[in-house]
Amino acid sequence: MSTTTDLNVKQKDVIERVLSMELVRVTERAAVSAARLRGHGNEKAADQAAVDAMRRELNKLPIDGTIVIGEGERDEAPMLFIGEKVGNGSGPKVDIAVDPLEGTTLCAKDMPGAIAVMAMAQAGSLLYAPDVYMDKIAIGPGYPEGVVDLDAAPIDNVNALAKAKGVKPHELNVLIMDRPRHADLIAAVRKTGASIRLITDGDVAGVIFTTMQEKTGIDLYLGIGGAPEGVLAAAALRCVGGQMQGRLILDTQEKVERARTMGITDPKRKYSMTELADGDVIVSATGVTDGALLAGVRFGRDVIETETIVYRSITGTVRKIQAEHREFEKFRLD
Ligand code: FBP
Repeated sequence: MSTTTDLNVKQKDVIERVLSMELVRVTERAAVSAARLRGHGNEKAADQAAVDAMRRELNKLPIDGTIVIGEGERDEAPMLFIGEKVGNGSGPKVDIAVDPLEGTTLCAKDMPGAIAVMAMAQAGSLLYAPDVYMDKIAIGPGYPEGVVDLDAAPIDNVNALAKAKGVKPHELNVLIMDRPRHADLIAAVRKTGASIRLITDGDVAGVIFTTMQEKTGIDLYLGIGGAPEGVLAAAALRCVGGQMQGRLILDTQEKVERARTMGITDPKRKYSMTELADGDVIVSATGVTDGALLAGVRFGRDVIETETIVYRSITGTVRKIQAEHREFEKFRLD
């Protein structure tokens, strides 16, 4: 006979299973809406289209959701702002992190790697953080805990990782965002002999690449990107293993104050992966433009094709979902 606890666990599992598929629909629709503006040189319009579609879909879900990572704070963004309530209010209380169009420039220029991405977890599980920068370090699964550290010198991280992997430092590949702020970091990594892949945008996927080393060749992510992207990437890493640390860059008094209003009392705190994204997490990402992680949206004569990856931390399952969407007009709600 099942106990109440068994039933609760089962019910929770069913909710999660059902919601995984619902999240796929949310990112699919955001991706399709953004992809209609792919290559049009208008970042804002593509982003807005993705935001509108994502918000509309989120509000259909049987959840009592709060956006904890969103498109900015209330005054800055009309849609999906941090603190906004989403869902029809009928289901579980959940935290939601969204990046409706991760890589707005990639989409506007039709360059590889733009995705629509979101994560959902039990309320209180995702870091409630302002839209600032975050210093990050990440590696894939299979290494001893603590082998790399955000506060260690790049040379020490590369050497430690190479030793743990049983290779020479020059056999490692490090992914860094191509930004002037990384000049010293890049120089320091070059001194180790490791190779560096520079990306122009899209560091949610950049961090995730470390978990697919055999496919992407990336062993280590280093450097500063967006904090929202950091939380989303940590959520994905939680599901497949790997290690990540992040520290918010709160370099003005105003940012420190803003963070304080969100409950962040130590502006220099180094967050572990589970402090960034805890609990049972589901992450869904759909390709907008073609990339190493996902294929972009294809607009056929009668069919729209999408590719989505869904991660669930409770089981560690990763699913790639290739979908064909018909009924254009029903799909096109914008
Ligand atoms: P957007 O989609 O908001 O343009 O972000 C793209 C991105 O490249 C992120 O992947 C990354 O974390 C962030 O921008 C880095 O910020 P910046 O471009 O200011 O260096």
